[in-house]
Amino acid sequence: MALSFRSSNQSAIWDRIRSDDATKLRLKYDAYYHIFDEQKGTRVKKDGKEYVMLSSNDYLGLSQHPKIKEAGMAALQKWGSSTTGARLANGGRIFHRELEEDLADFLGKEACHVFSAGYLACASAVTGFVDRKDIIFADKNLHSSLWSGIHLSGATCERFAHNDPEHLGELLASENSTTPKAVVLEGIYSMEGHIARLPELVEVGKRFNAFIILDDAHGVGVLGNSGRGTADHFGLTQGVDVICGSFSKSFSGMGGFVCSSKDAIDYMRSHSKQTIFSAALSPSATACAHAALQVFRAEPEHRQRLEKNLTRYRNLLHELQLDTWESESPAIPIVLGKKEKVYYFWKALLEKGVYAIISIAPGVPPGKDLIRTAISAAHTDSDLDIIEDAIRYAATKI
Ligand SMILES: Cc1ncc(COP(=O)(O)O)c(C=O)c1O
Repeated sequence: MALSFRSSNQSAIWDRIRSDDATKLRLKYDAYYHIFDEQKGTRVKKDGKEYVMLSSNDYLGLSQHPKIKEAGMAALQKWGSSTTGARLANGGRIFHRELEEDLADFLGKEACHVFSAGYLACASAVTGFVDRKDIIFADKNLHSSLWSGIHLSGATCERFAHNDPEHLGELLASENSTTPKAVVLEGIYSMEGHIARLPELVEVGKRFNAFIILDDAHGVGVLGNSGRGTADHFGLTQGVDVICGSFSKSFSGMGGFVCSSKDAIDYMRSHSKQTIFSAALSPSATACAHAALQVFRAEPEHRQRLEKNLTRYRNLLHELQLDTWESESPAIPIVLGKKEKVYYFWKALLEKGVYAIISIAPGVPPGKDLIRTAISAAHTDSDLDIIEDAIRYAATKI
């Protein structure tokens, strides 16, 4: 006989769920979690209407690359869909090791460990090394994955002004010199598109013997020799202690990585709950990431195309005097300041067949409400014509 749980939907948590203003607002404006029925390259379709995607992170446009798709399918055939467990429990596979060796070599580090999500990798790049007795100095605009790692580590955290080495230096100088210190940075800040002032930040951090963790999710593939990322771009690969990132941006795949010395990766494998208690990267995701890495090395044309597209797009935004928050990368915000303006701009883009994403406070600092756009090497001239037409139209609506 079924038991009746009269109170099962009377919990205070159900009340909170039903009355949440953020959810009501999200559903009212319907700006997020859209479902597309079809995708061909940069074009997505919903309810029979086609849109040019202007907010994904497929910077090099590799998500439909034949060699990457073939590698993923072959791995699925050979190894199946999953290793169904954490590597500590039922072992890694040779394909994990091959990717890790190749990626470590590419990024100029001794060793690497791959994870089933970039979020887990970047959280682990902090929790895997830092503990509660340490102090972390964090750029205040870090990605949520790094904040999760910071909170889970239990360490004291000081936030320094975004991309500001002078402020970092003041905070470091005010702390006890014997407390172990870590500095957490991004190579390219995903919302603003800013490149980290790495030479000054690393110099300050090293002056105070800090351990430097760099999340280069958006830098690898885009900056540095053959896409070796932000540290390579500045010749600072040995200046940063850890480089972490995601396979869901330029690699056009899924998963993430942490690279460092062999000792550090062995240490992290003993301490990172994100790998000890989470299943390994799947065979097909590993193969896709590995094939993308080979494409970075062998096919410079994708970066060249990205640069060409970026020049055209930046010129357009500049001509229309739109505020791009001084973005220096393919992640380009259009800062409109007020959420109503953002909403009308976004609606106008949709009307003209362009899909972008809204980001408003508290996701961005107050007064910086924006449309987050990202240019891809896969955007064709005809995509860029549609984007141009839509942005010119949207600019008249604000
Ligand atoms: C800077 C940064 N780090 C980490 C991540 C997490 O990567 P993933 O989405 O692949 O889990 C992201 C994704 O948005 C990111 O922008």
